[in-house]
Amino acid sequence: IDMRFHIMTLFPEIFNSYMNESIMKRAIEKGIIDCKVYNIRDFSENKHKKVDDYPFGGGAGMVMTPQPIIDTYKHIVETNKIENPRVIYLTPKGKVHCQEIAKKLSIEEDVILLCGHYEGIDQRVIDMIVTDEISIGDYVLTGGELAALVVIDSISRLIPGVLGQNESFEDESFENNLLEYPQYTRPRVYEGMEVPEVLLSGNHKKIDEWRREESIKITKERRPDLLDKK
Ligand code: ADE
Repeated sequence: IDMRFHIMTLFPEIFNSYMNESIMKRAIEKGIIDCKVYNIRDFSENKHKKVDDYPFGGGAGMVMTPQPIIDTYKHIVETNKIENPRVIYLTPKGKVHCQEIAKKLSIEEDVILLCGHYEGIDQRVIDMIVTDEISIGDYVLTGGELAALVVIDSISRLIPGVLGQNESFEDESFENNLLEYPQYTRPRVYEGMEVPEVLLSGNHKKIDEWRREESIKITKERRPDLLDKK
């Protein structure tokens, strides 16, 4: 197994349909990826299985308490014999996710993802176990679960064998800080709209040039910030 994901959440069911979906399911069946989901509530020592409490200092909402989260973490580390794991806390306060972070994470063996809910988690949990705080964008979700799925998906497709053999990452968006050029397939004419002549020419040098120009054009239009990074 090349990558083991361990998800800590209060809503484990959210992950079922995704994990049973084709590409992810195939990667799991092939033994490339493993994904385990742990319900934080199962580890609560409270007699009512409580996992949250009022914030010290007052304010709206509830805060997730340390004990159930830390005990879930200890269980994961012990049962899977993990040393120095990366623990990602999904939060709008985190570093904004990107292809470069996905690539960096794709070489890990174990990744633990912590999904928060309510108004967040006790800061001491972050100080004790979290190694990376990641946001998937400048908007607020109701919980970290959808963000965890986004991060898992972006990592998984980079692991060799998860996508098809012929899959290449060379030209896709964000490689070389460019957006991808437009793609066309048959028919050559659809509802009067034609495929660009150069793509039918068989001249690969011309085709590469055209694609590069299109990439630069669309990146300039939509994401000039990417060109600044080049
Ligand atoms: N939890 C709530 N909002 C989030 C976001 N934008 N990214 C990651 N985790 C979140």
